Amino acid sequence: MKIAFIGGGNMGEVIISAILAKGLSTPADIRVSDIKDERRQHLKQAYAVSVAGDNRAVAAEGEVVVLAVKPQNLTEVMAELNGQLKPGQLVLSIIAGARIDTLCRGLSHNAVVRAMPNTPAKIGQGVSVWTATAEVTGPQKARAGSILGAMGGEFYVADEKYLDMATAVSGSGPAYIFLFVEALVEAAVKIGLPQDMASELVMQTLLGSGGYLQKSGRAPAELRRMVTSPGGTTAEAIARFEQGGFKELVLGAVVAAYEKAQKLGG
Ligand SMILES: NC(=O)c1ccc[n+]([C@@H]2O[C@H](COP(=O)([O-])OP(=O)(O)OC[C@H]3O[C@@H](n4cnc5c(N)ncnc54)[C@H](OP(=O)(O)O)[C@@H]3O)[C@@H](O)[C@H]2O)c1
Repeated sequence: MKIAFIGGGNMGEVIISAILAKGLSTPADIRVSDIKDERRQHLKQAYAVSVAGDNRAVAAEGEVVVLAVKPQNLTEVMAELNGQLKPGQLVLSIIAGARIDTLCRGLSHNAVVRAMPNTPAKIGQGVSVWTATAEVTGPQKARAGSILGAMGGEFYVADEKYLDMATAVSGSGPAYIFLFVEALVEAAVKIGLPQDMASELVMQTLLGSGGYLQKSGRAPAELRRMVTSPGGTTAEAIARFEQGGFKELVLGAVVAAYEKAQKLGG
């Protein structure tokens, strides 16, 4: 599959690397346009893909045109590509907050997929939520699904409204988990554990708990109750989390992210 990338920064590189690792395209089928020569040289050397500084020329050659610039650069990119894309080309945008309607109007093109990946995509463990316009054909949807699936899990949704919700949950979610890990390590050090040991214990607890949750097939609340004996140490800690309004705090944070995502989308 011939893929053109407009923007070869962090996420562009993650997708290129995943596509090549899964054999969805060969380096000869991937063209990348980036404003920065340094990025172009890096991608050429690391993945043997062809690179250029001309968005229009690169976009013309993709069966799939991936938009991977930052939101603040979208307007200039759309102005350049407006009216340039052929009906059979599929646009796949990963730009946070960029609505399908904005993309279709800005590009004068109707076959558009909008996706929200997340950072664990860098190790093939991401999750992407995506939607497509009615003009996207079945084979194009399959292509979009395979590109996003190369970076981990992928969820197609028929309604774009779920994209802003997913942004607040899976898009920003890794940062919430990192914050909790950070807090747990700091607490571990405060009660007297050496830093290295605290980091390792928390890391293994995170990985082990995630893997156990996934493999056990049980609900998190059930697993939590199983490790919480009445009158025990875990019960003491959970009671403090509850007194502090832990679940309400998480809800407030997710709602704040969701509202921000809606606002950014206009
Ligand atoms: N990072 C994530 O975890 C994540 C997750 C989900 C979605 N996203 C979305 O992915 C998109 C890309 O994010 P990123 O982290 O990969 O950003 P990034 O590293 O800044 O990559 C964007 C690249 O595009 C270049 N660029 C800027 N203007 C351009 C133009 N007019 N034509 C061609 N190239 C241009 C940038 O160059 P300069 O640096 O010189 O501007 C940069 O090299 C964003 O829209 C973001 O919302 C990111």
